[in-house]
Amino acid sequence: MRGIILAGGSGTRLRPITGVTSKQLLPVYNKPMIYYPLSVLMHAGIREILIISNPRFLDTYRELLGDGRWLGLEFSYAGQPHPAGIADALRIGRDFAGQEDIGLILGDNIFYSTGLPSLLRSERDRLAGCTLFGYPVTDPERYGIAELDEDGAIRALTEKPEKPASNLAVTGLYFYDNEALSLVSRLTPSSRGELEITDLNRLYVEQGRARLVNLGRGSAWFDTGTHDSLLDAATFVQLIEKRQGIRISCIEEIAYRMGFIDAEQLHRIGRRLGDATDYGQYVRSLVGT
Ligand code: DAU
Repeated sequence: MRGIILAGGSGTRLRPITGVTSKQLLPVYNKPMIYYPLSVLMHAGIREILIISNPRFLDTYRELLGDGRWLGLEFSYAGQPHPAGIADALRIGRDFAGQEDIGLILGDNIFYSTGLPSLLRSERDRLAGCTLFGYPVTDPERYGIAELDEDGAIRALTEKPEKPASNLAVTGLYFYDNEALSLVSRLTPSSRGELEITDLNRLYVEQGRARLVNLGRGSAWFDTGTHDSLLDAATFVQLIEKRQGIRISCIEEIAYRMGFIDAEQLHRIGRRLGDATDYGQYVRSLVGT
């Protein structure tokens, strides 16, 4: 499976803080927002990752993340000049994906749950069509919503319904088989001029090849689309990290624990980070420096 992080968009709802930077580079407590979705793909065992953003900011992403080798990963970059829709990421990523399955994640989505890494790997292994990840919310009109039947199969998907039929939001993490690349070419732009991810997912539902995994109550999911949700996410990360002494979505730690880099490489990263911050000290402590 190859990974795509969609980190474009116009950042309208976060103005003025997105005036001169890409939203997904903004800090969420102690690390750039994009570290969080990146960590999800890494936990799924995905090592080849395409980062899509507005061409204006691609150099900044390159400066931050490089070619990925320092994390035992391989990053590619592509521009999306206009926010033409989330499904547009699959059009842009067609050559990158080649014949492989695809794990697509939105650059502003933050996931946290103890069992997530093993869940991701098992879902990746059993993928047959498309797998969506649901999360119960109190404000379903803000999201894509899934309606399930008694057996848990998806009955309908609706994008930002005025009268939601359920409170189960479809989060911004999607696993697709390679057929998504041809299905996306069947889509036409919606009334807001976007290739809608919900339209693509519906094609899988119609074929009976879509599955929804409910992340449920033992987990946290944030989309950091507004000032308040950005602060909520940062506060959540701060709270857990301070209370437990661990780090959420520390990509250096994940690369090490997943075996993508060895102790010597982590040691070098730790030296570069220095010990002026808790984050640097934490990474250094993992290899006893
Ligand atoms: O966060 C989950 C929700 O994401 C889903 O429940 C919805 O079904 C899905 O449509 C999407 O809803 P949003 O209202 O959050 O979509 P938004 O347009 O805000 O885009 C989400 C992120 O993707 C945002 O950080 C910007 C980025 N993006 C979006 C579009 C449309 C791009 O990079 N390019 C795009 O063309």
